[in-house]
Amino acid sequence: MTFQNRLDAARLMVEAELSLKLAVDTNVPARLRAAMQEAVLGGGKRFRPFLVIESAWLFGANSTAAITVAAALEAIHCYSLVHDDLPSMDDDEFRRGRPTVWKAFDEWTAILAGDALLTLAFEWLADANSAIPPAAVPKLVSELARAAGPSGMVGGQIIDLEADKLGQPPQPTVTHIRRLQQMKTGALIRFACRAGPLLAGSTSEHLEALTLYGEKLGLAFQISDDLLDATGDAAETGKAVAKDAAAGKATMVGLYGPEGARTLLADTQSQARAVLACYGPKSAALIEAVDFMAIRRS
Ligand code: IPE
Ligand code: IPE
Ligand code: MG
Ligand code: MG
Ligand code: MG
Repeated sequence: MTFQNRLDAARLMVEAELSLKLAVDTNVPARLRAAMQEAVLGGGKRFRPFLVIESAWLFGANSTAAITVAAALEAIHCYSLVHDDLPSMDDDEFRRGRPTVWKAFDEWTAILAGDALLTLAFEWLADANSAIPPAAVPKLVSELARAAGPSGMVGGQIIDLEADKLGQPPQPTVTHIRRLQQMKTGALIRFACRAGPLLAGSTSEHLEALTLYGEKLGLAFQISDDLLDATGDAAETGKAVAKDAAAGKATMVGLYGPEGARTLLADTQSQARAVLACYGPKSAALIEAVDFMAIRRS
């Protein structure tokens, strides 16, 4: 199967799981449920679920367990996008080719839908004892909380917005931007890559290898997102482009220009590929996920 087939397969599996999980609780008020469904089921590449499923497959972890973790992670990613698009944050009206949740509903509904998805993701994980090996559940809950929280995604978002809203720091350095990107985007991608070996109970060497791969891939992912903002096409990305520079975002494109950012992306990709060299053909899809960073159009 090609990379695209495997990405599609992961997408279909996680979407089926998410759609079931979001429909099941009859106590959820209709407006909130509709906004949560819009946030989660209205498109997206499902790249993080793909990484969970592929890293699990590489180490022979149970696929039902992987899909459960993938669904929880994707719910958190979708919440992060709903809040990221709010007028008080990036102020975006299009996402995944459709109106953002605050545009389709309103701000208060979008804020609450994000809160609900964040909380629900942990409910799913904590209640997944029959799907996930019970010994792995507390570790996954704690790692996902750390990746999503103040020293992970949320921490990265505040550093991102400090540049945008406060002009701080006035001249972001490469170290500053790398830290921002590791936190806001890298942390969830790193978690996705650790999930497989964690579910499989793999050795610490394997866990470390997938961690390093996830860290490099996370940086590559955000550099490529920033390149799409600078050089991409809104009809293909499904979101507004050419906004980061005007907003004063701290990005590698801002620091080095698009060509410099492409060079940095290529270096980061080589480092990510090198980590997987010892896994041979079984890691082909994860290697192609690295290649995808330079060619993706959305
Ligand atoms: C966009 O993530 C936000 C970033 C962390 C850069 P994706 O590019 O994975 O968005 P979807 O899920 O495919 O829409
Ligand atoms: C968002 O980064 C990262 C999140 C944690 C949501 P961006 O603000 O660059 O993502 P896009 O470009 O809006 O998808
Ligand atoms: Mg943002
Ligand atoms: Mg944004
Ligand atoms: Mg962006």
